[in-house]
Amino acid sequence: MSDQSNMFTQLMSGFSKLNLNERYQRLLELGALTKSEVQFLKNGGIKDIDLAEHLVENVIGYFQLPMGVATNFNINGKDYIIPMAVEETSIIAAASKTAKWVRSQGKITTRSLGKNIIGQIQIAKAKNFEASKDLILKNKEHLIAMANQVVKGLVARGGGVRDLEVRELDREDGSDDKMLVIHIYCDPCEAMGANLINQACEALKPQVERITGETVNLCILSNLVDTKLTEAIVEIHNIDPALGKGIEEASRFAIVDPYRAATNNKGVLNGIDAVLIACGNDWRAVEAGVHSYATRSGKYRSITEWKLEGTTLVGRLVAPIVVGTVGGVTKIHPTAQLGLRMLAVTSAEELAGVVAAVGLIQNLGALKALSTVGVVEGHMKLHATNLALAAGAGPEELLPVQIDLQNLLARVKRITLDDAKQILLNYRNNRNETQI
Ligand code: MEV
Repeated sequence: MSDQSNMFTQLMSGFSKLNLNERYQRLLELGALTKSEVQFLKNGGIKDIDLAEHLVENVIGYFQLPMGVATNFNINGKDYIIPMAVEETSIIAAASKTAKWVRSQGKITTRSLGKNIIGQIQIAKAKNFEASKDLILKNKEHLIAMANQVVKGLVARGGGVRDLEVRELDREDGSDDKMLVIHIYCDPCEAMGANLINQACEALKPQVERITGETVNLCILSNLVDTKLTEAIVEIHNIDPALGKGIEEASRFAIVDPYRAATNNKGVLNGIDAVLIACGNDWRAVEAGVHSYATRSGKYRSITEWKLEGTTLVGRLVAPIVVGTVGGVTKIHPTAQLGLRMLAVTSAEELAGVVAAVGLIQNLGALKALSTVGVVEGHMKLHATNLALAAGAGPEELLPVQIDLQNLLARVKRITLDDAKQILLNYRNNRNETQI
């Protein structure tokens, strides 16, 4: 391990046991946060309502999510502190704990498979499919050049529209009409590229209509970006064979059964979405891409796979994780800017790799728990805090109520909001009695 990595390990050790101020201090020492960023977070984050007014309509305020950091991640040999914005208890803890396990006896690697995003131009009912197809393909270079005129800035940065294809789709309406769909392939460089590809497609609409005499209906990007996939691989050496086998079997379950695959992929997206939100990226686009890619064989399957190879457990995730480090709200939303700076990624490709790695690690944490002790106990322990808060416990009441809830959990294996309310009531009654 390098000196830098050693220092990182030292400063991150015991992070979950620190109080808030100590956490800020460690992150300052690591350079993950600046003093002004700490101040911004201490002040409660974004306050400027004008920003919200610029972003959405009918604004009445902000919806705030807790943001934490996942620790122990080393991806492609580089250490990361990963911001995650999410309301669900135990996601950040599970990611950090699982990354620690992998850090101590394995590694995480990622790579990108492809660069181009996809735009679609629809001719709903082609009057003459073959003739229109020929005309579009004959004018292909001209159409690509026209599209690149619209995204000149992107072309100057080394990206732009690269290719175009014509697809024939069955309308599935019992008619003989054919749907013609043009696919535009574009390298968006560091942007997620939705606006760029939408502009390029819309700009081509009049020209396509002129060339073919057909009527264009939709012009829009596709979120099923199977031309720009990200792969993450996790290896864990010398794994306990029973544990390795349990995780392999859990994975097989999610490959063969859509009911299990849905929950498995939800667990993967627990990690993926939390990082995307913290970095101001469009998590709905990635969700749509992940789910549609999971159905590519005609059946909804897991987007991860775990196999025991000798004494090494190997996990793989491949998915369209299309993200940007520029554009969207990445430069407008101060918390997203902070999240991206903290991650210290130098490209959208690197960001996609981190997101994929967190998804795969999150999945490993869930499968490890599910194939051994289950998730209820861990969830419930952390859930005790939420229940105590929901029951109305004040700052001084929180800890005693939590402790009583955890004791109850140890006895009966389940705790509810009613339990929390009863415990809080008992606590208040006892306190009043002692005060009389
Ligand atoms: C809960 O948010 C996520 C899990 O259900 C994922 C899984 O079942 O793999 C634990």
